[in-house]
Amino acid sequence: MAVIVPSILSADFARLGEQVRAAAAGGADRIQIDVMDGRFVPNITVGPLIVEAVRRHCALPLEAHLMIVEPERYVQDFASAGADTIIVHQEASPHLHRTVEQIHRLGKQAGVAINPATALATLQEILDDVELVLCMTVDPGFGGQDFIASMLPKIERLRSMIAQRGARADLEVDGGIHAATAPLAVQAGANVLVAGSAIFGGPNDAAAGIAQLRAAIGH
Ligand code: DX5
Repeated sequence: MAVIVPSILSADFARLGEQVRAAAAGGADRIQIDVMDGRFVPNITVGPLIVEAVRRHCALPLEAHLMIVEPERYVQDFASAGADTIIVHQEASPHLHRTVEQIHRLGKQAGVAINPATALATLQEILDDVELVLCMTVDPGFGGQDFIASMLPKIERLRSMIAQRGARADLEVDGGIHAATAPLAVQAGANVLVAGSAIFGGPNDAAAGIAQLRAAIGH
């Protein structure tokens, strides 16, 4: 059964607690906080304070997706703020093994994300050490972008890589996930779906967005 993870990027930040509670009540499995620094990606969003705030309103596991340079400098802060999983970008982590060990020493789950043009081969030496691999299906920075369909074969190859290694990592996808693209991503091998605008951006409430995604993937 696919895991559904609303990301708060498209939420109404004036009502964030209410929206996160609605997503949890509507069947979300986790919540993702999109952290952006205006350097790794061309947008600036939130930091540990928002993780703390969401933590106060939600008992679900929280994922902090660090779309920032030098993520190793902030792992402690996001762990202390209440993140359960800390996702760093391979492209921003020259000492990725050390950063993953740092996340584990803090008692948190480690995730590694790769952008659309980043090769799966860059995960070869870290795949066995992480709990989650995030295969971006947009170039990160903004919600509401179109799903990059050429990522589907990459998701399939990543699923095969995980299976061949007997690795434990979840295969998460993020970007342009909605009722039309979610089944394609699951069919390709994703088992964790991050969605922002499909859940928080539409005219309906979060529960309706989640229900639509679940209906689209058949469970
Ligand atoms: C990177 C962000 C977004 C967000 C989801 O840009 O990480 O992918 O989570 O945005 P949607 O679901 O609106 O594409």
